[in-house]
Amino acid sequence: MEKVIEFKNVSKTYPDGTQGLKHVNLSIEKGEFVVIVGLSGAGKSTLLRSINRLNEITEGEIVIKGNSITKAKGKQLLRMRRDIGMIFQNFNLVKRSSVLKNVLSGRVGYHSTLRTILGLWPKPDVALALSALDRVNIKEKAYSRADELSGGQQQRVSIARALAQEATIILADEPVASLDPVTTVQVLDDLQHVNQELGITTVVNLHSVDLAKKYATRIIGIRAGEVVFDGPVDEAVDKTFDQIYQRSGKEQGAEASGL
Ligand SMILES: Nc1ncnc2c1ncn2[C@@H]1O[C@H](COP(=O)(O)OP(=O)(O)OP(=O)(O)O)[C@@H](O)[C@H]1O
Ligand SMILES: [Mg+2]
Repeated sequence: MEKVIEFKNVSKTYPDGTQGLKHVNLSIEKGEFVVIVGLSGAGKSTLLRSINRLNEITEGEIVIKGNSITKAKGKQLLRMRRDIGMIFQNFNLVKRSSVLKNVLSGRVGYHSTLRTILGLWPKPDVALALSALDRVNIKEKAYSRADELSGGQQQRVSIARALAQEATIILADEPVASLDPVTTVQVLDDLQHVNQELGITTVVNLHSVDLAKKYATRIIGIRAGEVVFDGPVDEAVDKTFDQIYQRSGKEQGAEASGL
């Protein structure tokens, strides 16, 4: 198996002294669908954002496909980041731009700044963007303004943007936190399809244990910045979640609502 993301003794101490991550060691392989679970404040976003250096770690090293992103600079860092698509809870779209332009923005890392400012997208890029929209079933919305779409459709646009970027890794931080239950399932199904069909290594932060169990091939539980569980879904029994969520026996069953 090919190692895609490696954490080597990674710690993150924020400037105010808060320890976001403590000595994290992880190895994620190609094609895995990893779900990170943990209480609010456990360090899920810190961990995810460390991978593409939206968040700088303070100790250890993160290695992407054999290259240290921690040590990468300049063009090499840009190239490594181009390989990593990011999906946010609030979609991060340019609301007043068309869906197609938003998806094309996934191509900025491949062209000169001037070209992208002028919007001179080469035909193959436009074709790639349209096929990415097709893959998430919203090709007919290509020329709509992004803010005319429903939340679920907007999240699909952000998945299409990651596909147009030709990312081989997708990081999603609470991608369904602002969506209703039906839309939630549609968006996670889309992420699962691109994971399975394109072999894109996927790491998702989720609050809901039920959703984690449904979609993950592997669950990583973190508590106070430390990995307290790491294993396949069928090994993550209720007792494991009690440990991750610091629950006592009495509170069992509370996970259905998602913590
Ligand atoms: N910029 C920051 N400065 C100081 N402390 C921070 C900063 N960002 C996060 N933290 C702290 O680091 C810890 C981990 O935060 P993080 O956002 O990673 O948690 P999380 O698991 O994503 O939580 P949530 O489920 O609420 O999104 C928390 O104690 C948080 O208060
Ligand atoms: Mg978070």
